[in-house]
Amino acid sequence: MKTLILYLSHDGQTKKIAEFIQSFIDDEVVIEPLREDFDIRPFERVIIGAAIRYGHFNRLLYRFVEKNSSLLNDRKAIFFGVNLTARKPGKDNPETNPYIRKFLQRISWQPSKIAIFAGALCYPRYKWFDRVMIQLIMKITGGETDATKEIEYTNWEKVKAFAESLNP
Ligand SMILES: Cc1cc2nc3c(=O)[nH]c(=O)nc-3n(C[C@H](O)[C@H](O)[C@H](O)COP(=O)(O)O)c2cc1C
Repeated sequence: MKTLILYLSHDGQTKKIAEFIQSFIDDEVVIEPLREDFDIRPFERVIIGAAIRYGHFNRLLYRFVEKNSSLLNDRKAIFFGVNLTARKPGKDNPETNPYIRKFLQRISWQPSKIAIFAGALCYPRYKWFDRVMIQLIMKITGGETDATKEIEYTNWEKVKAFAESLNP
């Protein structure tokens, strides 16, 4: 089975997760950043991953999904979302993660499988405004506020279990 993994990643963590998933898939895998004009028809299986910024998935994801919703439904396509809220127990599954619930309400594609993974905090790499905003959000939600830190919250065992579950 020919598998396509498309990811939308601003700071690299979603890409890293996508590549990790790829390493566990037995079939031929093509992995690419998501582009609006990407033709998914040659692929029997499609996996899409995207991260949250300021409460939203990138608009490109919505445009892509709307344009391809029937193809995605036909191919029983799979989705994974990445965000920092998911670092908290109870917010780390599709039923309880607010971003996933909102996303599913807005689209006509119904992913056959959904996963949600905690992302990474990379203060030194953020622009000033983003750093200050993330510090504020972290302060409010009881997270790390030390702007010298890079912390990866991704639970790689959880990603591995998800990836392995994709093999027939
Ligand atoms: C500017 C900015 C805004 C973010 N906004 C949110 C948010 O609203 N909710 C959340 O849970 N995580 C938020 N995050 C965390 C990202 O989803 C997390 O860092 C993720 O790993 C980013 O993935 P990427 O490296 O693939 O871009 C934000 C991160 C940045 C840098």
